[in-house]
Amino acid sequence: MLSFRHIGGYMDNSCKMPRHIAIILDGNGRWAEQRGLPRFKGHSKGSETVREIVDHCDKIGIEYITLYAFSTENWKRPKEEVDEIMRLLRKYLDELSKYADKNAKITVLGETEGLPSDIRGKIMEATENTRNNTGIKVNIALNYGGRQEITNAAKRIAALVKRGELEPEDITENLFEKFLYTKDMPSPDIILRPGREKRISNFLLWQGAYSELIFEDILWPDYTKEDLDRAIDDFKHRNRRYGGVK
Ligand code: FPP
Repeated sequence: MLSFRHIGGYMDNSCKMPRHIAIILDGNGRWAEQRGLPRFKGHSKGSETVREIVDHCDKIGIEYITLYAFSTENWKRPKEEVDEIMRLLRKYLDELSKYADKNAKITVLGETEGLPSDIRGKIMEATENTRNNTGIKVNIALNYGGRQEITNAAKRIAALVKRGELEPEDITENLFEKFLYTKDMPSPDIILRPGREKRISNFLLWQGAYSELIFEDILWPDYTKEDLDRAIDDFKHRNRRYGGVK
């Protein structure tokens, strides 16, 4: 459980590991272009980095990792690139789902109805096969958009109100969260974005309200375990006040 020491009104985070790290996997295309390679090669190297970082997070006791693998806007990319990302996702879902030694529990966050049917099948299989696993919880944000997630939650709640199953006064933040893809999960302590851009790009808009933001110049395929340890150390030195006073 998270518990913060109070020092002179500060929430002191210094001895706390984050429970949940969310990562925007950015910089794959540029990594490939810098090497004169087609962009999709960057995604393939980026997916190797995913494996290393997820394994490392599991080893050091991170409970949840959320990876922004494909946004609702990413369909605008060339078909060759989209196909390669989908191929890498199929492969990763298969790996996590079939190798019991991984012990990861998989959840996919996003509009799965809009995905190719074989990927939907793999998602169902991976979710089912890993349901009782006790290792790291791996959330893959796939065909995900934060605004879309919030809008869908609002629609589902509105339908309940219309049917008379819920009163408008019952709509609290706690209730709203139950309609998000991350239902029953802790909010991310860290949102990490490698790849030099300093923006959130429609990722976890609700859940990230109090996340510590860490932006890195390193392109995702070059990101290492040591870089992650440094990011965690940075997090541990931040004072989280959640709107309280200094
Ligand atoms: C953003 O980099 C990255 C993506 C849109 C795709 C990320 C997908 C993977 C790493 C593949 C598989 C995922 C998993 C979880 C196994 P970019 O292409 O926008 O980079 P750029 O800004 O340099 O062009």
